Amino acid sequence: MRKIVIAGNWKMFKTQAESQDFLTGFLPTLEETPPEREVVLCVPYTDLSILSKSLHGSLVQLGAQNVHWAESGAYTGEISGLMLEEIGVRYVIIGHSERRQFFGETDETVNLRLKAAQKYGLTPILCVGETKQQRDAQETESLIIGQLKQGLVDVDQTNLVIAYEPIWAIGTGDTCEAKEANRVIGVIRSQLTNPDVPIQYGGSVKPNNIDEIMAQPEIDGALVGGASLEAADFARIVNYLQ
Ligand code: 13P
Repeated sequence: MRKIVIAGNWKMFKTQAESQDFLTGFLPTLEETPPEREVVLCVPYTDLSILSKSLHGSLVQLGAQNVHWAESGAYTGEISGLMLEEIGVRYVIIGHSERRQFFGETDETVNLRLKAAQKYGLTPILCVGETKQQRDAQETESLIIGQLKQGLVDVDQTNLVIAYEPIWAIGTGDTCEAKEANRVIGVIRSQLTNPDVPIQYGGSVKPNNIDEIMAQPEIDGALVGGASLEAADFARIVNYLQ
């Protein structure tokens, strides 16, 4: 049985005070959520320790948005798996397209970060996906297969989540059609040695399209940006209808 994982990616949004306001609205709505759905919030570093306390005893797992491969060292601006694990972080997003595009993340550094996350018992959410240009040039499959091949060298596929996030669908309101996302996720699954790795779709997931997305047989969850910032919207997403 593949696990369902619905994760919010807050990116660089929400102060500590705002994160607490969000939880006041969001946590009560989880009473309706089927227990087999894993709900994760991947938040800015400054929110991690306060959320670690506020989420204690709730069904929500805590996630970070990156991790360095060293345990400690002279790496200004980075954070280690040891530090995340110590405060109760369980998931970490790795290789998000915004990291690849704006901060020079490569498949090689993604691979190092994936292995470091697993070393500290964190579950990495590996992001893959194509630009509009690559899609138009029919390069979607080859690009993604390349990202997986290089990213997953020596990575344990029993503790892994993958997110298919077409870059052209992120923050644009231009969702990838559910059937097409399902098809690409099938291609991703065909590249894995463990067919039970949960594979999410991400890119303009909203309350009004989550039911159709989750109805697709290959899609095991969602990685949600903008709509995870509003308690009511994210509640509707985690409580999608089957
Ligand atoms: P949006 O849901 O805002 O399109 O963002 C998707 C994303 O990048 C999640 O990681």
